[in-house]
Amino acid sequence: MNKIVKGGVVMMGILAGCSQETASAGEPGSVATGKVAVVYFSWSPDGNTRFAAEAIAKKAGAALFEIKAETPYNSDFSACCDEAKPECYGKKLRPIKPIDRLDLAKYDVVFVGTPNWWGTMAPPVRTWVAQNKDALKGKSVCLFQTHGGGGMQRVGREFAEVIGDAAKVLPPKAFAGSSVKSATKALEAFVAERIALQ
Ligand SMILES: Cc1cc2nc3c(=O)[nH]c(=O)nc-3n(C[C@H](O)[C@H](O)[C@H](O)COP(=O)(O)O)c2cc1C
Repeated sequence: MNKIVKGGVVMMGILAGCSQETASAGEPGSVATGKVAVVYFSWSPDGNTRFAAEAIAKKAGAALFEIKAETPYNSDFSACCDEAKPECYGKKLRPIKPIDRLDLAKYDVVFVGTPNWWGTMAPPVRTWVAQNKDALKGKSVCLFQTHGGGGMQRVGREFAEVIGDAAKVLPPKAFAGSSVKSATKALEAFVAERIALQ
């Protein structure tokens, strides 16, 4: 990991506060109703990807679902990096918990959010995509990620590889984790642009 990336990620802190939730937004001003789902994984206590997922769900009037690893990653940043590194470079599938009440048949557009881990998707996201690519068939699927300075790296490409031809893959987007919480306008524009492409 280069210096910039490391500098960005060190800011994250230590404990991961994760809770699996399912919520329908349907907020006034949303660009779509009822047919959009947002599925995400977030690890750091800053919750950068969670923040992006919530903002996207609000704008899209979407249901929100969290991916959780069956066995949580170490809550220490360095230990988590060490744990995740061989999984990320080895393109391993980390077992995940089932997501309650997620029925992909109900949705036309699915946004999938991940932190950038070692230049790619966090392994629980890779697992979810691999497990659900048949259920995503015929839908528009759009990746978003937050990062510590590395930008998109291999995340979008490997996401598209895992999905294959099953779904229509919309252009992915990377958001800097350190500034995502002041990027609500950019997140909203991202949603509007991708929904228009579906
Ligand atoms: C295991 C691990 C590996 C990471 N690898 C990268 C990386 O390769 N490139 C990068 O830009 N950021 C990397 N980061 C930083 C995260 O992508 C960034 O802090 C992200 O916004 C965290 O999202 P979260 O708060 O939802 O967990 C890494 C973080 C962790 C924990």
